[in-house]
Amino acid sequence: MAVIIDGKAVSARLRREMTAEVAALKEAGLVPGLAVVLVGEDPASQVYVRNKMRACEELGIRSRDYRLPGDTTEEALLDLIGELNRREDVHGILVQLPLPKQIREEAVIAAIAPEKDVDAFHARNVGKIVQGSYDFLPCTPAGVLELIRSTGVSVTGKECVVIGRSNIVGKPMAMLMLHENATVTICHSRTQNLPQVTRRADILIVAIGKAKFVTADMVKPGAVVIDVGMDRDENGKLCGDVDFASVEPVAGYLTPVPGGVGPMTITMLMRNTITAAKLLGGRRG
Ligand code: GUN
Repeated sequence: MAVIIDGKAVSARLRREMTAEVAALKEAGLVPGLAVVLVGEDPASQVYVRNKMRACEELGIRSRDYRLPGDTTEEALLDLIGELNRREDVHGILVQLPLPKQIREEAVIAAIAPEKDVDAFHARNVGKIVQGSYDFLPCTPAGVLELIRSTGVSVTGKECVVIGRSNIVGKPMAMLMLHENATVTICHSRTQNLPQVTRRADILIVAIGKAKFVTADMVKPGAVVIDVGMDRDENGKLCGDVDFASVEPVAGYLTPVPGGVGPMTITMLMRNTITAAKLLGGRRG
């Protein structure tokens, strides 16, 4: 039976450490500030944004919430980003994705000052990650890495298979595992003989958005299995990309959904905001 990786517990430990760090920064006159921008009324995005603001409050980070109507123009959003780039009390800027169709995501991401890009989506930050000298890691891959570290399993030299090649998770995740000296394979919807590839994995990271896609026959006995999925099963119940009941008897370590990767993503956003505040340093808010 797999050891269940408790994302809530790992997240709570990291948040305690960060709360102390924010308090020390405040003593020194620096209050980390995060601006969260939400365009439109997508219900899932509203929940994510609310949770991000709540985490800021818990840690003592000053958050600013910008809610714009769904018919906002790209120009108006770029104007707001320009203003937030200039504000000295804003160290991190997060524009919640997806955006309404009249706004080009790539134009918005490019407009955020790279030193305030706490999502690490800007091409300059992506490039720095590829080069291995970065200030920010994208929040979900960074959270996954912390969960793997929490198991105590050494990554060096291991076979790591990532299923999914998104810009937000799959691609940066693969790069991080490469930096950790894993032998990395990225699989996707066109991969042939997928179970044959995934069964090689000592560490299997799944980020495809298909409910209960990974079953026991795809998992090497004893593997570390990380489930990034947030899906609904046939009864509408929250579940992951991994068929938990089938994989649990085979895996060595396994993240649950909910309570695995989810809580870590926001914790890593908080870490990036603190890092941005420290880097922007002397510019006090
Ligand atoms: N939408 C879903 N995940 C994310 C994320 O990590 N950052 C942003 N900005 N939007 C998202």
